[in-house]
Amino acid sequence: MDSNARGSWSGHLGFVLAAAGSAIGLGNIWRFPYTAGAGGGGAFVLVYLGAVLLVGVPILVSEVVLGRATQRNPVGAFRAASGTGGWPLVGYIGVIAGFVILSYYGVVAGWALNYLVTAASGGLSGMDSVQMQSMFEDLTSSPYRQVAWQALFMVATILVVSRGIEAGIERASKVLMPLLLGFLLVLLGYALTSEKAMEGLSFFLEPRFEDLTWTSVLAALGQAFFSLSLGMGAMITYGSYLERRRSVARPVMTIVAMDTSIAILAGLVIFPLVATYSLDPSSGPGLVFVVLPQAFLRMPATSLLAALFFGLLVFAALTSAISLLEVVVAFAVDELRWTRGFASWVGGGLIFALGVPSAVSSGFFGWADRVASEVMLPAGGFFIALFVAWVMPVDVAKEGYRGREGGLRWYSQWRFCLRYVAPVAVAIILLQNIGLLD
Ligand code: PHE
Repeated sequence: MDSNARGSWSGHLGFVLAAAGSAIGLGNIWRFPYTAGAGGGGAFVLVYLGAVLLVGVPILVSEVVLGRATQRNPVGAFRAASGTGGWPLVGYIGVIAGFVILSYYGVVAGWALNYLVTAASGGLSGMDSVQMQSMFEDLTSSPYRQVAWQALFMVATILVVSRGIEAGIERASKVLMPLLLGFLLVLLGYALTSEKAMEGLSFFLEPRFEDLTWTSVLAALGQAFFSLSLGMGAMITYGSYLERRRSVARPVMTIVAMDTSIAILAGLVIFPLVATYSLDPSSGPGLVFVVLPQAFLRMPATSLLAALFFGLLVFAALTSAISLLEVVVAFAVDELRWTRGFASWVGGGLIFALGVPSAVSSGFFGWADRVASEVMLPAGGFFIALFVAWVMPVDVAKEGYRGREGGLRWYSQWRFCLRYVAPVAVAIILLQNIGLLD
């Protein structure tokens, strides 16, 4: 199949925007703060940053290299680059991870959609802070409402993916992502001047290593994979639509920098507000949905601000959900020869069905999230690293890295991290957590 039939980005900028759109999502604004809150704050953040640099960056580079060198979906990429052996299995695990993650991702995006519509229709005005708090509990204790919002979000995702490699999404990202950043900066100003800002900041930024356990180290690693969309082939797929002229080093660093700054920014906004309103930082998945509306309530134009914020959050979630569904669809289109429209609806429909148990039971939700982010993604990333570092012919990997005309800046550092640091770190953390190293 030639690259024209598969579609491609308009160029490096298009790729950076789409990949950043995949990376920046609920993972940054919803998942990062509550995982950091539950994992002990400052020490967690430090481990997270270490995981991003030493594991995330090299694996992100290798996914893009593998995708760009083979111009295939994750399963096809392994097959094309390895010839024989069980390597395509890694691609299959990725497709399954796409199913699992998007199933509950759609539920959370549905919450955001519900907040957006409630705020936009004026439903927040006149609420007091107790009512605002119980709004989240009411929503999450109603399976029907959650499933309905989740369905709506999934239909939006399917509609975009079924249309193909999208001029629309690229163009919308150019406007809406900077708007999200700007909005977070405004909220930052508000948060930093709130009453107990310092207390919140010291929880978020001051490392207290006595709070750090292997469980929270694993959570930090899982969060790095989740937030950078790694370990399941989303970046292989997006890399497969990238033209082969220049080095991948710069676009990858840009993506990582954007993703990480949005997550840190979200933490800088949330934790001062958590302290000021005396909320519990380790309260779990409801954190952002409870904290921010409390703040909006105390600002002028509550409904407008809340609608704007949740609108941007829904959009950020959409660009991530698209990449999750795209992995499944690219696989069905390339390997099963389905049409894009058919694959989008069938894949999206099955994923929606798989998400229903997550809407009904928070236990199932938590389980699906942990299996995906703490087992499937690190395991997938581990094998991707091994493959690109040790199995793929060196000249193919090198050419995939630099492109036809690009340079080899950072190449040897990347290769070193990929061969020794990333796989060893991931293996130790995984083994520690299943108790094999005790
Ligand atoms: N990175 C996305 C987020 O932070 C989620 C995601 C995970 C997307 C894995 C694709 C693959 O919201």
